[in-house]
Amino acid sequence: MNRRVTLAARPNGMPKESDFALDEARDPEPGPAEVLIRNRFLSVDPYQRGRMSESRSYAQSLQIGDVITSQSVGEVVESNDARFGAGDWVVGQTGWLELAVARGGALRKVDPSVAPPTTALHVLGTTGLTAYFGLFDVGEPVAGDLVVVSAAAGAVGQLVGQLARLAGCRTVGIAGGEEKKRLLLEEYGYDVAIDYKSEDVGAVCPGGVNVYFDNVGGKISDAVQLRLALGARIVICGQVSQYNNVQPELAPRLTALLIVFRARMEGFIVSDYAHRFDEALPRLAQWLHDGKLRYREDVVEGIENAPRAFIGMLNGENRGKTIVAI
Ligand SMILES: NC(=O)c1ccc[n+]([C@@H]2O[C@H](COP(=O)([O-])OP(=O)(O)OC[C@H]3O[C@@H](n4cnc5c(N)ncnc54)[C@H](OP(=O)(O)O)[C@@H]3O)[C@@H](O)[C@H]2O)c1
Repeated sequence: MNRRVTLAARPNGMPKESDFALDEARDPEPGPAEVLIRNRFLSVDPYQRGRMSESRSYAQSLQIGDVITSQSVGEVVESNDARFGAGDWVVGQTGWLELAVARGGALRKVDPSVAPPTTALHVLGTTGLTAYFGLFDVGEPVAGDLVVVSAAAGAVGQLVGQLARLAGCRTVGIAGGEEKKRLLLEEYGYDVAIDYKSEDVGAVCPGGVNVYFDNVGGKISDAVQLRLALGARIVICGQVSQYNNVQPELAPRLTALLIVFRARMEGFIVSDYAHRFDEALPRLAQWLHDGKLRYREDVVEGIENAPRAFIGMLNGENRGKTIVAI
């Protein structure tokens, strides 16, 4: 039987393990042009929280009983698509389940000789592409710029700082706790690191922030936005500090600062750049191969532990990219 994690109840605030169910379904069979995959690694991401609620978003909400949506990496068991054969590694949006069926056209082959297959879920996959297009296309960094990144020790954030340094920028990483601060400085090469739980976020940017890569929103972003440089670019990648709010948070209205600093604030979704993934992935792979990009994976064993890993990630317990290994 095929074990799957489904949505048992819509979370109210921070999700609880009882909002998820582990069930079993009959093994799926691939139809014409479809591929049967044995998933080995499941992705755990903040956007999944949005899919669990009913509020308007850029993608459809999950219904109660649906398998939790996610990217997954697995091995092909059987294929009715000539592009794939048994034993191939693939990545696709197949969800938190052991055996998945997907259209061949919705899958991407993963070459395990280039990098470990798990990297297709981060540096050579969605979070790598998010860091790449968010920073380079939306943030438009110029050598010498000061780039500030929130949730800097997470899956996206750990890469943004390194990409900014490759572009000749100075970098400030913001994360929670002393241990993450050390990771920012020693592993990901941030010039300055701030523990937002015990330090003043604003104190470190006296010269003005040219690019703010925002993963969290809330009070951290309010503090950074008071310290923009003229012509600053604010990249709205994520607002994870807000995802569990039952009511929208009341906050200072800082939009007038966009006038003062002639700044631009822009949100983006990585899938908007799908037509350019083939441009970014070889560059990311080359930097990884050359040792210019480092990453951390936070791997939890067992599909039954996926909900706990998800809740832990929202609470900041992860170091780098959260993955569930089956
Ligand atoms: N626009 C897109 O296409 C796109 C694509 C992928 C991801 N994203 C967004 O990018 C952001 C990062 O995603 P990720 O996958 O890399 O997750 P992640 O950073 O690996 O994990 C989430 C992190 O958020 C931080 N956090 C949680 N609550 C917080 C709060 N109240 N205040 C400050 N920090 C808080 C925690 O780090 P600390 O311990 O440092 O608090 C936690 O480790 C998310 O907002 C996500 O939605 C956007």
